[in-house]
Amino acid sequence: MKEIINVEIKTQAVDLSKCETDMLAIGRFSDAKKPDKTISELDSKLGGAIEQVIKLGDFKGKDRTSAVVYGNANIGARRVLLVGLGEEKKATVDTVRKAAALAANRAVEMKVKNLAMALHRPFGGRFDLSAMGRAMAEGTYCGSYRYDEFVTEGENGRLGGISVELIESDSAKIKELQEGLSSGVVTGKAHSYARTIANRPGNVINPAKLAELAKETAKKAAGLSCTVFDEKELAAQGMGGVLAVGSGSQNKPRFIILRYKPANKAAGKLPTIGLVGKAITFDSGGISIKPSANMDEMKLDKSGGTAVLAAVQAAAELKLPVNLYGIVPAAENLPSGTSYRPGDIITTFSGKTVEVQNTDAEGRMILCDAISYAVKQKCEIIIDIATLTGACMVALGQYMAGLMGNDEKLIKQLQEAAEESGEKVWPMPCGEEYAKEMKSKIADLKNVGSKWGGACTGAAFLRQFAGEAKWAHLDIAGVDMIEKSTEFSAEGASGFGVRLLTTYLMNKGKNRK
Ligand code: BES
Ligand code: ZN
Ligand code: ZN
Repeated sequence: MKEIINVEIKTQAVDLSKCETDMLAIGRFSDAKKPDKTISELDSKLGGAIEQVIKLGDFKGKDRTSAVVYGNANIGARRVLLVGLGEEKKATVDTVRKAAALAANRAVEMKVKNLAMALHRPFGGRFDLSAMGRAMAEGTYCGSYRYDEFVTEGENGRLGGISVELIESDSAKIKELQEGLSSGVVTGKAHSYARTIANRPGNVINPAKLAELAKETAKKAAGLSCTVFDEKELAAQGMGGVLAVGSGSQNKPRFIILRYKPANKAAGKLPTIGLVGKAITFDSGGISIKPSANMDEMKLDKSGGTAVLAAVQAAAELKLPVNLYGIVPAAENLPSGTSYRPGDIITTFSGKTVEVQNTDAEGRMILCDAISYAVKQKCEIIIDIATLTGACMVALGQYMAGLMGNDEKLIKQLQEAAEESGEKVWPMPCGEEYAKEMKSKIADLKNVGSKWGGACTGAAFLRQFAGEAKWAHLDIAGVDMIEKSTEFSAEGASGFGVRLLTTYLMNKGKNRK
Protein backbone atom coordinates (compact mmCIF):
# COMPACT_ATOMS: atom_id res chain seq x y z
CA MET A 1 0.00 0.00 0.00
CA LYS A 2 1.25 3.44 -0.95
CA GLU A 3 2.43 5.71 1.84
CA ILE A 4 0.85 9.04 2.68
CA ILE A 5 3.13 12.07 2.09
CA ASN A 6 6.39 11.62 3.92
CA VAL A 7 7.28 14.67 6.04
CA GLU A 8 10.79 15.39 7.23
CA ILE A 9 11.17 18.34 9.51
CA LYS A 10 14.11 19.87 11.37
CA THR A 11 15.54 23.20 12.52
CA GLN A 12 18.40 25.14 11.00
CA ALA A 13 20.33 28.15 12.26
CA VAL A 14 20.60 30.36 9.20
CA ASP A 15 19.88 33.92 8.10
CA LEU A 16 16.58 34.31 6.34
CA SER A 17 18.17 35.69 3.20
CA LYS A 18 20.89 33.00 3.05
CA CYS A 19 18.55 30.02 3.42
CA GLU A 20 18.71 27.83 0.29
CA THR A 21 15.19 26.58 -0.29
CA ASP A 22 12.43 26.16 -2.87
CA MET A 23 10.10 28.24 -0.74
CA LEU A 24 10.56 30.37 2.35
CA ALA A 25 7.38 31.05 4.34
CA ILE A 26 7.22 34.23 6.40
CA GLY A 27 4.29 35.69 8.31
CA ARG A 28 2.70 39.12 8.38
CA PHE A 29 -0.03 40.56 10.61
CA SER A 30 -2.80 42.47 8.82
CA ASP A 31 -2.26 45.46 11.12
CA ALA A 32 1.56 45.35 11.16
CA LYS A 33 3.05 48.85 10.90
CA LYS A 34 6.39 47.58 9.70
CA PRO A 35 7.86 44.10 9.24
CA ASP A 36 10.23 42.32 11.57
CA LYS A 37 13.90 43.43 11.17
CA THR A 38 15.09 40.21 9.56
CA ILE A 39 12.17 40.31 7.15
CA SER A 40 12.92 43.89 6.12
CA GLU A 41 16.53 42.84 5.48
CA LEU A 42 15.23 40.10 3.22
CA ASP A 43 12.97 42.60 1.50
CA SER A 44 15.76 45.03 0.82
CA LYS A 45 17.71 42.22 -0.89
CA LEU A 46 14.61 41.63 -2.99
CA GLY A 47 14.56 45.30 -3.95
CA GLY A 48 11.41 45.95 -1.93
CA ALA A 49 9.35 43.32 -3.76
CA ILE A 50 7.55 42.22 -0.57
CA GLU A 51 6.52 45.75 0.41
CA GLN A 52 5.43 46.29 -3.18
CA VAL A 53 2.96 43.39 -3.01
CA ILE A 54 1.59 44.84 0.21
CA LYS A 55 1.41 48.41 -1.15
CA LEU A 56 -0.41 47.22 -4.24
CA GLY A 57 -2.96 45.62 -1.95
CA ASP A 58 -2.45 42.13 -3.41
CA PHE A 59 -1.66 40.82 0.05
CA LYS A 60 -2.94 42.42 3.24
CA GLY A 61 -1.85 39.92 5.86
CA LYS A 62 -5.41 38.70 6.46
CA ASP A 63 -5.74 35.22 7.83
CA ARG A 64 -6.32 32.42 5.31
CA THR A 65 -4.46 34.43 2.65
CA SER A 66 -1.02 34.13 1.09
CA ALA A 67 1.03 35.47 -1.80
CA VAL A 68 4.15 34.31 -3.62
CA VAL A 69 7.12 36.62 -4.31
CA TYR A 70 9.92 35.20 -6.46
CA GLY A 71 13.54 35.17 -5.27
CA ASN A 72 16.58 36.68 -6.96
CA ALA A 73 20.36 36.19 -6.92
CA ASN A 74 20.68 38.11 -3.63
CA ILE A 75 18.76 35.55 -1.56
CA GLY A 76 18.90 31.78 -1.21
CA ALA A 77 15.15 31.15 -1.49
CA ARG A 78 13.64 30.60 -4.92
CA ARG A 79 10.24 31.73 -3.66
CA VAL A 80 9.01 33.68 -0.65
CA LEU A 81 5.53 32.77 0.55
CA LEU A 82 3.87 35.57 2.49
CA VAL A 83 1.38 34.12 4.93
CA GLY A 84 -1.38 36.25 6.48
CA LEU A 85 -1.55 36.10 10.28
CA GLY A 86 -4.63 38.29 10.75
CA GLU A 87 -4.90 40.91 13.49
CA GLU A 88 -2.01 40.90 15.93
CA LYS A 89 -4.12 41.23 19.07
CA LYS A 90 -6.19 38.18 18.12
CA ALA A 91 -3.14 35.97 17.56
CA THR A 92 -2.67 32.80 19.57
CA VAL A 93 -0.30 29.86 19.21
CA ASP A 94 -2.93 28.37 16.90
CA THR A 95 -2.30 31.28 14.51
CA VAL A 96 1.21 30.01 13.82
CA ARG A 97 -0.07 26.40 13.59
CA LYS A 98 -2.57 27.45 10.93
CA ALA A 99 0.04 29.56 9.11
CA ALA A 100 2.36 26.53 8.95
CA ALA A 101 -0.53 24.38 7.74
CA LEU A 102 -1.32 26.87 4.99
CA ALA A 103 2.33 27.02 3.93
CA ALA A 104 2.68 23.22 3.88
CA ASN A 105 -0.59 22.88 2.00
CA ARG A 106 0.55 25.33 -0.68
CA ALA A 107 3.96 23.69 -0.89
CA VAL A 108 2.35 20.31 -1.61
CA GLU A 109 0.02 21.91 -4.14
CA MET A 110 2.98 23.57 -5.91
CA LYS A 111 5.07 20.37 -5.73
CA VAL A 112 7.75 22.15 -3.80
CA LYS A 113 10.39 19.73 -2.45
CA ASN A 114 11.71 21.80 0.39
CA LEU A 115 10.11 24.47 2.45
CA ALA A 116 11.69 26.76 5.05
CA MET A 117 9.55 28.48 7.69
CA ALA A 118 10.29 31.55 9.77
CA LEU A 119 6.66 32.04 10.71
CA HIS A 120 7.39 32.58 14.40
CA ARG A 121 9.37 35.77 13.84
CA PRO A 122 6.61 38.43 13.81
CA PHE A 123 5.33 37.14 17.17
CA GLY A 124 8.47 38.41 18.93
CA GLY A 125 8.61 37.07 22.46
CA ARG A 126 4.84 36.87 22.87
CA PHE A 127 4.65 33.09 23.11
CA ASP A 128 7.01 30.47 24.32
CA LEU A 129 9.29 29.50 21.40
CA SER A 130 8.97 25.84 22.20
CA ALA A 131 5.17 26.10 21.86
CA MET A 132 5.72 27.87 18.52
CA GLY A 133 8.06 25.09 17.33
CA ARG A 134 5.52 22.46 18.29
CA ALA A 135 2.69 24.31 16.58
CA MET A 136 4.68 24.75 13.37
CA ALA A 137 5.52 21.04 13.28
CA GLU A 138 1.87 20.09 13.91
CA GLY A 139 0.70 22.57 11.28
CA THR A 140 3.14 21.11 8.76
CA TYR A 141 1.72 17.62 9.19
CA CYS A 142 -1.84 18.90 9.08
CA GLY A 143 -1.45 21.03 5.96
CA SER A 144 0.61 18.58 3.91
CA TYR A 145 -1.67 15.61 4.61
CA ARG A 146 -3.50 14.03 1.67
CA TYR A 147 -5.50 10.82 1.72
CA ASP A 148 -4.70 9.20 -1.60
CA GLU A 149 -3.45 5.72 -0.77
CA PHE A 150 -5.89 4.14 -3.23
CA VAL A 151 -5.34 6.51 -6.14
CA THR A 152 -3.37 4.49 -8.67
CA GLU A 153 -3.43 6.83 -11.64
CA GLY A 154 -0.70 9.42 -12.17
CA GLU A 155 1.25 10.94 -9.31
CA ASN A 156 -1.88 12.11 -7.51
CA GLY A 157 -0.59 15.57 -8.44
CA ARG A 158 1.91 15.60 -5.60
CA LEU A 159 5.44 14.58 -4.71
CA GLY A 160 6.13 11.64 -2.41
CA GLY A 161 7.54 13.74 0.38
CA ILE A 162 8.38 17.18 1.62
CA SER A 163 11.33 18.34 3.67
CA VAL A 164 10.71 21.26 5.99
CA GLU A 165 13.09 23.43 8.03
CA LEU A 166 12.18 25.83 10.79
CA ILE A 167 14.79 28.52 10.41
CA GLU A 168 16.11 31.16 12.77
CA SER A 169 19.39 33.09 12.76
CA ASP A 170 19.73 33.14 16.56
CA SER A 171 21.12 29.74 17.60
CA ALA A 172 19.96 30.20 21.22
CA LYS A 173 16.39 30.36 19.94
CA ILE A 174 16.93 27.28 17.78
CA LYS A 175 17.27 25.14 20.89
CA GLU A 176 13.81 26.09 22.12
CA LEU A 177 12.25 25.73 18.70
CA GLN A 178 13.83 22.30 18.37
CA GLU A 179 12.44 21.20 21.72
CA GLY A 180 8.91 22.03 20.61
CA LEU A 181 9.48 20.60 17.16
CA SER A 182 10.39 17.20 18.62
CA SER A 183 7.07 16.87 20.44
CA GLY A 184 5.18 18.43 17.52
CA VAL A 185 6.55 15.75 15.20
CA VAL A 186 5.14 13.07 17.50
CA THR A 187 1.69 14.66 17.74
CA GLY A 188 1.71 15.66 14.05
CA LYS A 189 2.53 12.10 12.97
CA ALA A 190 -0.07 10.67 15.34
CA HIS A 191 -2.63 13.10 13.91
CA SER A 192 -1.90 11.98 10.33
CA TYR A 193 -2.01 8.33 11.41
CA ALA A 194 -5.46 8.83 12.96
CA ARG A 195 -6.68 10.53 9.78
CA THR A 196 -5.46 7.72 7.56
CA ILE A 197 -7.03 4.97 9.64
CA ALA A 198 -10.29 6.90 9.93
CA ASN A 199 -10.31 7.61 6.18
CA ARG A 200 -10.02 3.94 5.25
CA PRO A 201 -13.42 2.62 4.21
CA GLY A 202 -15.43 -0.22 5.71
CA ASN A 203 -14.17 -2.82 3.24
CA VAL A 204 -10.60 -2.04 4.25
CA ILE A 205 -10.95 -1.53 7.99
CA ASN A 206 -13.23 -3.71 10.08
CA PRO A 207 -13.05 -4.36 13.83
CA ALA A 208 -10.49 -7.20 13.49
CA LYS A 209 -8.28 -5.13 11.16
CA LEU A 210 -8.43 -2.18 13.54
CA ALA A 211 -7.37 -4.49 16.37
CA GLU A 212 -4.40 -5.71 14.29
CA LEU A 213 -3.33 -2.12 13.73
CA ALA A 214 -3.58 -1.43 17.46
CA LYS A 215 -1.34 -4.45 18.12
CA GLU A 216 1.22 -3.14 15.62
CA THR A 217 1.07 0.28 17.24
CA ALA A 218 1.79 -1.25 20.64
CA LYS A 219 5.06 -2.71 19.33
CA LYS A 220 6.31 0.72 18.30
CA ALA A 221 6.83 2.33 21.70
CA ALA A 222 8.25 1.27 25.04
CA GLY A 223 5.80 0.74 27.88
CA LEU A 224 2.92 0.06 25.51
CA SER A 225 0.95 -3.19 25.33
CA CYS A 226 -2.26 -4.28 23.65
CA THR A 227 -4.94 -6.81 24.55
CA VAL A 228 -7.83 -7.65 22.22
CA PHE A 229 -11.04 -9.43 23.16
CA ASP A 230 -12.58 -11.33 20.23
CA GLU A 231 -16.26 -12.29 20.10
CA LYS A 232 -15.74 -15.34 22.34
CA GLU A 233 -13.95 -13.29 24.99
CA LEU A 234 -16.59 -10.57 24.66
CA ALA A 235 -19.24 -13.18 25.46
CA ALA A 236 -17.19 -14.55 28.36
CA GLN A 237 -16.79 -11.02 29.75
CA GLY A 238 -20.50 -10.26 29.34
CA MET A 239 -20.02 -7.29 27.06
CA GLY A 240 -23.61 -7.36 25.87
CA GLY A 241 -23.56 -3.88 24.36
CA VAL A 242 -20.61 -4.46 22.03
CA LEU A 243 -21.92 -7.91 21.05
CA ALA A 244 -25.41 -6.61 20.27
CA VAL A 245 -24.16 -3.84 17.97
CA GLY A 246 -21.74 -6.19 16.22
CA SER A 247 -24.24 -9.02 15.81
CA GLY A 248 -25.51 -8.00 12.35
CA SER A 249 -22.15 -8.16 10.59
CA GLN A 250 -19.92 -11.04 9.53
CA ASN A 251 -17.05 -8.82 10.62
CA LYS A 252 -17.20 -9.64 14.29
CA PRO A 253 -16.68 -7.02 17.00
CA ARG A 254 -13.48 -6.53 18.97
CA PHE A 255 -12.63 -4.80 22.21
CA ILE A 256 -9.19 -3.18 22.04
CA ILE A 257 -7.24 -2.28 25.15
CA LEU A 258 -4.00 -0.33 24.85
CA ARG A 259 -2.08 0.04 28.08
CA TYR A 260 0.74 2.52 28.60
CA LYS A 261 2.83 2.47 31.76
CA PRO A 262 5.69 4.95 32.00
CA ALA A 263 9.12 3.61 32.98
CA ASN A 264 9.25 6.11 35.82
CA LYS A 265 8.94 4.47 39.23
CA ALA A 266 6.58 7.19 40.41
CA ALA A 267 4.03 5.79 37.94
CA GLY A 268 2.32 3.85 40.69
CA LYS A 269 1.34 7.11 42.38
CA LEU A 270 -0.07 8.69 39.24
CA PRO A 271 -3.83 8.65 38.72
CA THR A 272 -4.95 6.13 36.10
CA ILE A 273 -6.53 7.78 33.07
CA GLY A 274 -8.80 5.92 30.66
CA LEU A 275 -9.36 7.24 27.14
CA VAL A 276 -12.36 5.59 25.52
CA GLY A 277 -13.04 5.93 21.77
CA LYS A 278 -16.04 4.86 19.72
CA ALA A 279 -14.99 2.75 16.74
CA ILE A 280 -17.94 1.83 14.57
CA THR A 281 -16.10 0.86 11.41
CA PHE A 282 -19.30 1.49 9.45
CA ASP A 283 -22.62 2.75 10.78
CA SER A 284 -25.53 1.92 8.47
CA GLY A 285 -27.91 2.41 11.40
CA GLY A 286 -28.60 -1.34 11.52
CA ILE A 287 -32.28 -2.40 11.42
CA SER A 288 -33.20 1.25 12.12
CA ILE A 289 -31.42 1.93 8.84
CA LYS A 290 -30.21 5.39 7.89
CA PRO A 291 -31.28 7.15 4.69
CA SER A 292 -28.87 6.35 1.84
CA ALA A 293 -27.79 9.95 1.13
CA ASN A 294 -24.28 10.50 2.49
CA MET A 295 -24.30 7.15 4.24
CA ASP A 296 -20.72 6.67 2.99
CA GLU A 297 -19.64 9.29 5.53
CA MET A 298 -20.42 6.78 8.25
CA LYS A 299 -17.09 5.08 7.55
CA LEU A 300 -15.80 7.92 9.74
CA ASP A 301 -17.84 6.65 12.68
CA LYS A 302 -14.64 5.13 14.04
CA SER A 303 -12.96 8.56 14.41
CA GLY A 304 -13.16 8.61 18.22
CA GLY A 305 -11.47 5.23 18.38
CA THR A 306 -8.69 6.18 15.96
CA ALA A 307 -8.09 9.40 17.93
CA VAL A 308 -7.64 7.33 21.10
CA LEU A 309 -5.24 4.88 19.42
CA ALA A 310 -3.16 7.78 18.10
CA ALA A 311 -3.18 9.76 21.36
CA VAL A 312 -2.03 6.75 23.40
CA GLN A 313 0.70 6.10 20.85
CA ALA A 314 1.81 9.76 21.11
CA ALA A 315 1.78 9.64 24.93
CA ALA A 316 4.03 6.57 24.85
CA GLU A 317 6.40 8.06 22.27
CA LEU A 318 6.65 11.25 24.29
CA LYS A 319 7.28 9.09 27.38
CA LEU A 320 4.70 11.13 29.28
CA PRO A 321 4.50 10.43 33.01
CA VAL A 322 0.87 9.30 32.88
CA ASN A 323 -0.74 5.98 33.68
CA LEU A 324 -2.94 5.29 30.72
CA TYR A 325 -5.55 3.01 29.19
CA GLY A 326 -6.80 3.42 25.63
CA ILE A 327 -10.06 1.51 25.33
CA VAL A 328 -11.60 1.13 21.90
CA PRO A 329 -14.76 -0.92 21.44
CA ALA A 330 -15.04 -1.73 17.74
CA ALA A 331 -18.05 -3.06 15.81
CA GLU A 332 -19.77 -2.76 12.45
CA ASN A 333 -23.44 -1.72 12.61
CA LEU A 334 -25.25 -3.55 9.78
CA PRO A 335 -28.77 -4.89 9.24
CA SER A 336 -29.12 -8.64 8.71
CA GLY A 337 -30.95 -11.69 10.02
CA THR A 338 -28.62 -11.78 12.99
CA SER A 339 -28.78 -8.07 13.89
CA TYR A 340 -29.98 -6.74 17.21
CA ARG A 341 -33.47 -5.27 16.90
CA PRO A 342 -35.49 -2.35 18.16
CA GLY A 343 -37.20 -3.63 21.31
CA ASP A 344 -34.36 -5.93 22.36
CA ILE A 345 -33.27 -5.74 25.99
CA ILE A 346 -29.50 -5.99 26.36
CA THR A 347 -27.59 -6.76 29.55
CA THR A 348 -24.46 -4.61 29.45
CA PHE A 349 -21.05 -5.29 31.02
CA SER A 350 -22.06 -3.24 34.08
CA GLY A 351 -25.10 -5.46 34.69
CA LYS A 352 -27.47 -2.61 33.82
CA THR A 353 -30.10 -3.53 31.23
CA VAL A 354 -30.89 -1.36 28.21
CA GLU A 355 -34.01 -1.37 26.06
CA VAL A 356 -33.01 -0.74 22.43
CA GLN A 357 -35.42 1.69 20.86
CA ASN A 358 -33.25 2.55 17.89
CA THR A 359 -30.36 0.43 16.60
CA ASP A 360 -28.80 3.58 15.15
CA ALA A 361 -28.07 4.83 18.67
CA GLU A 362 -25.31 2.19 18.74
CA GLY A 363 -22.41 4.34 19.92
CA ARG A 364 -23.71 4.49 23.48
CA MET A 365 -24.33 0.72 23.43
CA ILE A 366 -20.63 -0.02 22.87
CA LEU A 367 -19.30 2.91 24.90
CA CYS A 368 -21.24 1.96 28.02
CA ASP A 369 -19.37 -1.37 28.12
CA ALA A 370 -16.05 0.39 27.52
CA ILE A 371 -16.67 3.01 30.23
CA SER A 372 -17.68 0.29 32.70
CA TYR A 373 -14.52 -1.59 31.78
CA ALA A 374 -12.44 1.55 32.50
CA VAL A 375 -14.18 1.85 35.89
CA LYS A 376 -13.35 -1.80 36.58
CA GLN A 377 -9.69 -1.12 35.77
CA LYS A 378 -9.85 1.59 38.46
CA CYS A 379 -9.43 4.53 36.09
CA GLU A 380 -9.96 7.64 38.21
CA ILE A 381 -10.35 9.82 35.15
CA ILE A 382 -12.28 8.66 32.08
CA ILE A 383 -12.57 10.67 28.88
CA ASP A 384 -14.64 9.29 26.04
CA ILE A 385 -14.59 10.63 22.49
CA ALA A 386 -17.26 9.66 19.99
CA THR A 387 -19.13 10.63 16.84
CA LEU A 388 -22.20 10.13 19.00
CA THR A 389 -25.07 12.30 17.81
CA GLY A 390 -26.25 14.21 14.77
CA ALA A 391 -27.90 16.46 17.37
CA CYS A 392 -24.49 17.73 18.48
CA MET A 393 -23.74 18.79 14.93
CA VAL A 394 -27.12 20.55 14.78
CA ALA A 395 -26.27 22.39 18.01
CA LEU A 396 -22.66 23.40 17.37
CA GLY A 397 -22.11 23.06 13.64
CA GLN A 398 -18.81 21.84 12.30
CA TYR A 399 -16.55 24.11 14.32
CA MET A 400 -16.36 22.61 17.76
CA ALA A 401 -17.00 19.43 19.71
CA GLY A 402 -19.56 19.15 22.50
CA LEU A 403 -18.00 18.73 25.94
CA MET A 404 -19.99 17.21 28.80
CA GLY A 405 -18.91 15.72 32.10
CA ASN A 406 -19.42 15.19 35.81
CA ASP A 407 -16.38 17.06 37.09
CA GLU A 408 -15.81 20.80 36.69
CA LYS A 409 -12.04 20.56 37.06
CA LEU A 410 -11.71 17.93 34.34
CA ILE A 411 -13.96 19.98 32.05
CA LYS A 412 -11.80 23.06 32.67
CA GLN A 413 -8.59 21.14 31.97
CA LEU A 414 -10.03 19.88 28.69
CA GLN A 415 -11.09 23.42 27.79
CA GLU A 416 -7.53 24.57 28.41
CA ALA A 417 -6.12 21.73 26.30
CA ALA A 418 -8.58 22.66 23.55
CA GLU A 419 -7.40 26.26 23.66
CA GLU A 420 -3.74 25.19 23.41
CA SER A 421 -4.25 22.58 20.72
CA GLY A 422 -6.56 24.61 18.50
CA GLU A 423 -9.23 21.85 18.63
CA LYS A 424 -12.25 23.68 19.95
CA VAL A 425 -14.85 22.43 22.42
CA TRP A 426 -18.03 23.89 23.85
CA PRO A 427 -19.59 22.92 27.19
CA MET A 428 -23.05 21.31 27.17
CA PRO A 429 -25.22 19.89 29.98
CA CYS A 430 -25.95 16.23 30.73
CA GLY A 431 -27.53 16.30 34.21
CA GLU A 432 -30.62 14.84 35.88
CA GLU A 433 -33.26 16.25 33.51
CA TYR A 434 -31.61 14.48 30.61
CA ALA A 435 -30.87 11.29 32.54
CA LYS A 436 -34.57 10.99 33.42
CA GLU A 437 -35.44 10.78 29.73
CA MET A 438 -33.25 7.70 29.41
CA LYS A 439 -35.24 5.63 31.93
CA SER A 440 -37.13 2.66 30.50
CA LYS A 441 -40.29 1.10 31.87
CA ILE A 442 -39.13 -2.43 31.06
CA ALA A 443 -35.36 -2.15 31.60
CA ASP A 444 -32.99 0.07 33.62
CA LEU A 445 -32.36 2.38 30.68
CA LYS A 446 -33.39 2.92 27.07
CA ASN A 447 -31.04 4.03 24.35
CA VAL A 448 -32.94 7.08 23.06
CA GLY A 449 -34.50 10.09 24.74
CA SER A 450 -37.14 12.52 23.50
CA LYS A 451 -37.03 14.48 20.27
CA TRP A 452 -34.97 17.30 21.80
CA GLY A 453 -31.48 17.67 23.22
CA GLY A 454 -30.12 14.47 21.65
CA ALA A 455 -26.47 15.30 22.37
CA CYS A 456 -27.30 15.88 26.04
CA THR A 457 -29.44 12.77 26.49
CA GLY A 458 -26.75 10.68 24.77
CA ALA A 459 -24.16 12.00 27.21
CA ALA A 460 -26.54 11.55 30.16
CA PHE A 461 -26.88 7.88 29.20
CA LEU A 462 -23.09 7.41 29.24
CA ARG A 463 -22.71 9.31 32.50
CA GLN A 464 -24.55 6.56 34.32
CA PHE A 465 -21.79 4.07 33.58
CA ALA A 466 -18.93 6.20 34.94
CA GLY A 467 -19.66 5.46 38.60
CA GLU A 468 -17.45 7.47 40.95
CA ALA A 469 -14.86 8.25 38.27
CA LYS A 470 -14.28 11.77 37.01
CA TRP A 471 -15.71 11.53 33.54
CA ALA A 472 -15.89 13.74 30.45
CA HIS A 473 -17.42 13.14 27.05
CA LEU A 474 -16.44 14.68 23.72
CA ASP A 475 -19.14 14.47 21.04
CA ILE A 476 -17.21 14.89 17.78
CA ALA A 477 -20.04 14.13 15.32
CA GLY A 478 -19.81 17.65 13.85
CA VAL A 479 -16.03 17.86 13.62
CA ASP A 480 -14.86 14.42 12.55
CA MET A 481 -14.95 15.33 8.87
CA ILE A 482 -13.61 18.17 6.76
CA GLU A 483 -16.27 18.37 4.08
CA LYS A 484 -14.41 20.59 1.65
CA SER A 485 -10.66 21.18 1.67
CA THR A 486 -9.61 24.44 3.32
CA GLU A 487 -6.44 26.56 3.23
CA PHE A 488 -5.21 24.50 6.17
CA SER A 489 -6.32 21.02 5.45
CA ALA A 490 -7.35 18.45 2.86
CA GLU A 491 -10.85 17.00 2.95
CA GLY A 492 -11.80 13.78 4.71
CA ALA A 493 -11.19 12.68 8.28
CA SER A 494 -10.11 15.58 10.48
CA GLY A 495 -8.29 13.56 13.12
CA PHE A 496 -10.01 15.71 15.73
CA GLY A 497 -9.04 14.87 19.28
CA VAL A 498 -5.49 13.62 18.79
CA ARG A 499 -3.89 16.99 19.60
CA LEU A 500 -6.50 17.83 22.24
CA LEU A 501 -6.08 14.55 24.15
CA THR A 502 -2.30 14.55 23.81
CA THR A 503 -2.13 18.14 25.08
CA TYR A 504 -4.36 17.21 28.02
CA LEU A 505 -2.01 14.29 28.84
CA MET A 506 1.07 16.51 28.45
CA ASN A 507 -0.39 19.01 30.90
CA LYS A 508 -1.32 16.21 33.27
CA GLY A 509 2.27 14.97 33.03
CA LYS A 510 3.51 18.44 33.96
CA ASN A 511 1.85 17.80 37.30
CA ARG A 512 -1.13 20.04 36.92
CA LYS A 513 -3.42 18.69 39.62
N1 BES B 1 -22.87 7.91 14.11
C1 BES B 1 -24.11 8.54 14.35
C2 BES B 1 -23.99 10.03 14.67
C3 BES B 1 -23.46 10.93 13.59
C4 BES B 1 -24.34 11.63 12.80
C5 BES B 1 -22.11 11.13 13.42
C6 BES B 1 -23.87 12.47 11.83
C7 BES B 1 -21.62 11.97 12.43
C8 BES B 1 -22.52 12.65 11.65
C9 BES B 1 -24.82 7.88 15.53
O1 BES B 1 -24.55 6.54 15.71
C10 BES B 1 -26.29 8.03 15.31
O2 BES B 1 -26.77 7.57 14.33
N2 BES B 1 -26.97 8.67 16.25
C11 BES B 1 -28.36 8.88 16.18
C12 BES B 1 -28.92 8.77 17.58
C13 BES B 1 -30.42 8.77 17.64
C14 BES B 1 -30.99 7.55 16.96
C15 BES B 1 -30.83 8.82 19.09
C16 BES B 1 -28.62 10.26 15.60
O3 BES B 1 -27.84 11.17 15.86
O4 BES B 1 -29.57 10.41 14.86
ZN1 ZN C 1 -25.83 5.26 14.53
ZN1 ZN D 1 -22.69 5.87 14.99
